[in-house]
Amino acid sequence: MDINIAVVPVAGLGTRLLPATKSQPKEMLPVGRKPVVQYVVEELTRVGMKRLLFITGPGKTSIENHFDLNGELIQTLRETGKEDLLEEFEYERAPVQYFYTRQRQLLGLGHAVLCAQPFVGDQPFVVALGDSIIGVNAQSDVVRRMTRCFVENRAAAVIAFEEVPMGDVHNYGIAKPSFDSAQDSGDVFQIEDVIEKPSVDEAPSNLAIAARYVFAPGIFEAIHRTKPGKGGEIQLTDAIRLILQEGGKAYGITLRGAERRFDIGNFDSYFRAFVEFALADEKHGAGLRQHVEHLLHRGGLGHDHHS
Ligand code: UTP
Repeated sequence: MDINIAVVPVAGLGTRLLPATKSQPKEMLPVGRKPVVQYVVEELTRVGMKRLLFITGPGKTSIENHFDLNGELIQTLRETGKEDLLEEFEYERAPVQYFYTRQRQLLGLGHAVLCAQPFVGDQPFVVALGDSIIGVNAQSDVVRRMTRCFVENRAAAVIAFEEVPMGDVHNYGIAKPSFDSAQDSGDVFQIEDVIEKPSVDEAPSNLAIAARYVFAPGIFEAIHRTKPGKGGEIQLTDAIRLILQEGGKAYGITLRGAERRFDIGNFDSYFRAFVEFALADEKHGAGLRQHVEHLLHRGGLGHDHHS
């Protein structure tokens, strides 16, 4: 079974990043040299996705523009002797088709995924959140490991997880691994339950959902039956829970060392991601490192201008 459709939800308002997101999508914010969503697309095309469906909303047209072929710009670069910049458009030629549909009401991530139903039909598919990069420069094949696990186990869902500090569990969907598989070695485990944004006391583990999923088409029917949960939104986590309660099998795959998840949804993690990607930049990383070290050495970072 070839799983090659990926759904990329990008409709959210990004209120935690205001004012940066007032008139531009958070998914278009740059991390190092590229906008966040370009890393997501590069990751997905590298693992063999052929059709990408973006779930968009008002104010998100710059995402569509970014993946269009821009002949005029290419022509201008040629005419002005800037051919060396043409390689920056390599991503436009990825062997992938782009599709877009609107989430007409922002009713939550579960509802955003449901908007993909007429496109996806009765095939399994990947969901990759458009505001999260996996690994520095998106060097991750976790989605390939997930689709393999999905096929081998005839799963209803496979979800990527990352260990987070217990103090952060209230920000994520958290897994309860099944007792048997918790003793398994390796990075795959069977999921007994998932809980959206639990308190520390409620959290059954520190394994947080990490922005990548593979679903059988049965998820749509489960979302249909999911009532609004935390924040009045139709939560994808609640639909997964429904599947588990009704006997569906779901598996978790933990991210490996270098595959950390960079969540661009809040300033704290956005700043960290930007700095890390910029420090890893081939051309500018070394100079930036020197500059940051200089600032840190001075104990400065903008606080000591008057000292
Ligand atoms: P978030 O939970 O980060 O929500 O969405 P948000 O609305 O973008 O951000 P805040 O809370 O206002 O700051 C996670 C992913 O799900 C998408 C977002 O675009 C993001 O990629 N999403 C969320 C939708 O597509 N539709 C929704 O109704 C909610």
